[in-house]
Amino acid sequence: MTSATVSAGTATVTSMTTNELRALAERRDALILAHYYQTTDIQQLAGAVGDSFELAKMAASAPQKTLIFCGVRFMAESAKILCPEKTVILPAPDAGCPMADMITPEDVRKLREDHPNAAVMAYINTSAAVKAECDICCTSSSAVRIAESLAENEIIFLPDQNLGGYVAERVPGKTFYLFDGYCPVHHRAGAEDVLAVRKARPGARLLVHPECRPEVVKLADGVGSTSWILREAETAPPGSEFVIGTEVGVVERLQITAPEQTCFLLRAGFVCPNMKKTSLQDVEKALRGEVPEITLAQDVMDAARASLVRMMAV
Ligand code: 13P
Ligand code: SF4
Repeated sequence: MTSATVSAGTATVTSMTTNELRALAERRDALILAHYYQTTDIQQLAGAVGDSFELAKMAASAPQKTLIFCGVRFMAESAKILCPEKTVILPAPDAGCPMADMITPEDVRKLREDHPNAAVMAYINTSAAVKAECDICCTSSSAVRIAESLAENEIIFLPDQNLGGYVAERVPGKTFYLFDGYCPVHHRAGAEDVLAVRKARPGARLLVHPECRPEVVKLADGVGSTSWILREAETAPPGSEFVIGTEVGVVERLQITAPEQTCFLLRAGFVCPNMKKTSLQDVEKALRGEVPEITLAQDVMDAARASLVRMMAV
């Protein structure tokens, strides 16, 4: 790729090569983090790529003073909560998570009133204000372990009904109250997609994310976080076939990290439009200080941090 200068209205936008962006990040003492659902060019640029839990951990331990978070808002907010002294920038500021937007702090307070003996467990896909109302956070890779670790026998799980149901089934000794949120991308896949793909690809292993509907999870050969799905496919015998029930970014990554495997998407349109909002130009602008940093009220940050730190400890 070569450098080019183009005119966008009155502003001049310089599009830099990946190496130039990396050098700029180093000069700015910035770490670029990217989720596996980001486009391939962003994942290749990033200094750290991971699932939600790994990214939160890498953000917390990063020596750099600036974090450029290529993902969606709740991820950048979580990084800010864990590292309040750092400058955290979401390069595409309008990249949200529709599931996180399905629940408000008022909803959490109402659930607590209805179930006063229950612990409140929040999927990391929630706003800082919602995390501030909860007892502990979890990610898809840690949810079962965290539910098991709680002293309470009743658990309010929010906002994802599918991940909540998946956890409830694996922690049978406890009573779960599930909020009815869902990921619009994963929730779209149904049993009919699995049956169609089983017919078309009879030798393939179906690996799905726990944000999928229970009927899909039940029919799958394996269920786990984005990192888990990647590891399963990458470490399988060469020449294996997989059908992947999560966002297309995971399949695109596998084409690079495991070209010897054949991977298909469970259904067409498994694309998170918010995760695809970040462009290299956005990252460049963020590195140049042209994108506002994440700011949160101190009391919200402090209360939300308690839930995140508890998760990290488990
Ligand atoms: P992971 O934690 O598995 O990366 O999932 C994040 C997410 O938003 C899934 O839709
Ligand atoms: Fe949110 Fe779903 Fe996109 Fe993940 S894939 S960020 S849960 S909308």
